[in-house]
Amino acid sequence: MAKAKTVYTCADCGGVNPKWQGQCPHCGAWNTLGETVLEPARPGVARFNALAAGGGVQNLSEVETREAPRTSTGSEELDRVLGGGLVAGAVVLIGGDPGIGKSTLLLQAIAHLGRNGPVLYVSGEESAQQIALRARRLAVEAEPVRLLAEIQLETILAGLASEKPAVAVIDSIQTVYTDQLQSAPGSVAQVRECAAQLTRYAKTSGTTILLVGHVTKEGALAGPRVLEHIVDAVLYFEGDTHSSFRLIRAQKNRFGAVNELGVFAMTDRGLRGVANPSALFLSRHAEPVAGSCVLVTQEGTRPLLVEIQALVDEAHAPNPKRLAVGLEQNRLSLLLAVLHRHAGVACFDQDVFLNAVGGVRIAEPAADLAVLLAIYSSLRNKPLPEKLVVFGEVGLSGEVRPVQRGQERLKEAAKLGFERAIIPRANAPKTPIAGMAVTAIERLDQAIAALRE
Ligand code: TYD
Ligand code: MG
Repeated sequence: MAKAKTVYTCADCGGVNPKWQGQCPHCGAWNTLGETVLEPARPGVARFNALAAGGGVQNLSEVETREAPRTSTGSEELDRVLGGGLVAGAVVLIGGDPGIGKSTLLLQAIAHLGRNGPVLYVSGEESAQQIALRARRLAVEAEPVRLLAEIQLETILAGLASEKPAVAVIDSIQTVYTDQLQSAPGSVAQVRECAAQLTRYAKTSGTTILLVGHVTKEGALAGPRVLEHIVDAVLYFEGDTHSSFRLIRAQKNRFGAVNELGVFAMTDRGLRGVANPSALFLSRHAEPVAGSCVLVTQEGTRPLLVEIQALVDEAHAPNPKRLAVGLEQNRLSLLLAVLHRHAGVACFDQDVFLNAVGGVRIAEPAADLAVLLAIYSSLRNKPLPEKLVVFGEVGLSGEVRPVQRGQERLKEAAKLGFERAIIPRANAPKTPIAGMAVTAIERLDQAIAALRE
């Protein structure tokens, strides 16, 4: 028998190379090439490309459009992240660490959806008994959910064709394999082909498909990047498994905004939406403590109060440590340089640790000012004034730039009992907000001077 021909496939982009290399020549990623058996060309299996079939060339204005109707998943938080609910024929990928609650969330959602139409739960990870046990725990065992414990794509597609569900869950895409390829389940080629075939099925049948995806050690979805391009929406679970709170964020959404955040609490009866999460990420101190600053961040349409904690301590190594949890590490170095240059506060001989309380990840630059004030407070070992909230982006020349929706942020803070705010001048409210004393500043040194008052 002829020896099977092998090639090297990139786990990130799916690019193929005849020999092993440290760096993928297609996407430039390092250490992503893995040996795979070369698949013979398969006539008849069209390469997955366009989903928008037919119609020919036409004028944009002639294209018939309909507002896609949304189906509620029964969870307000999940609906919000999806952009208002599920759209028929959409494919949604849900990623997250093992044990964070992907299967739980989808079982709860599909049980609710089962009341309005046929639904199918395909599990390649757990047996039907295990799912039934979980359903009992979630008190949804009486809902009309059809189950299929299967990992072979052809059987799954046949199951979908005969059940004709309105919504189907595939848990998980990495366990599914197709007979047409020889590589192992979970390999780049398999994941890509199975996802493409399921997507094609969803588009032609109008079935909504929810795919569960595993994440790698680095936190990216396992399998090729192309997976994220194929599907309509990518949702990620955030938060650590140690706390009971789970956050879901849309990383891509063809049917809605991407910055919405869904907040859930894991209870003994499944995931419950947290309708009013704004005070969730504050830790309660009996006395004011140094190094803590409350930030008002904006996640999608909702303002959220998050405590930023800093610890600045004398460094005992030539290279002081800079560590940020939940915030951007590189941004921290940049902000420390601004603090030195424009406010005369030096940290070059200090280790700086930074944490956003509650496992929430903050990407917006509006956190800059809060980060710097927390660092300053820790360095001087002096608590910030009580009931103070802060937001504002800090630029390289020490200016404090305005952020979006300043008014809403201030109102939310006032609602939760905060009484002082240090914010960018351009965000200063035109009419005073009841119970809130606002200090509007233009430069970083003014913010620090305002603390001394
Ligand atoms: P699971 O949905 O199996 O995670 P994933 O599919 O993402 O791997 O969730 C598993 C965890 O959730 C497990 O550690 C137990 C916990 N859990 C609860 O705390 N309460 C519940 O009602 C359920 C069903 C699970
Ligand atoms: Mg699972």
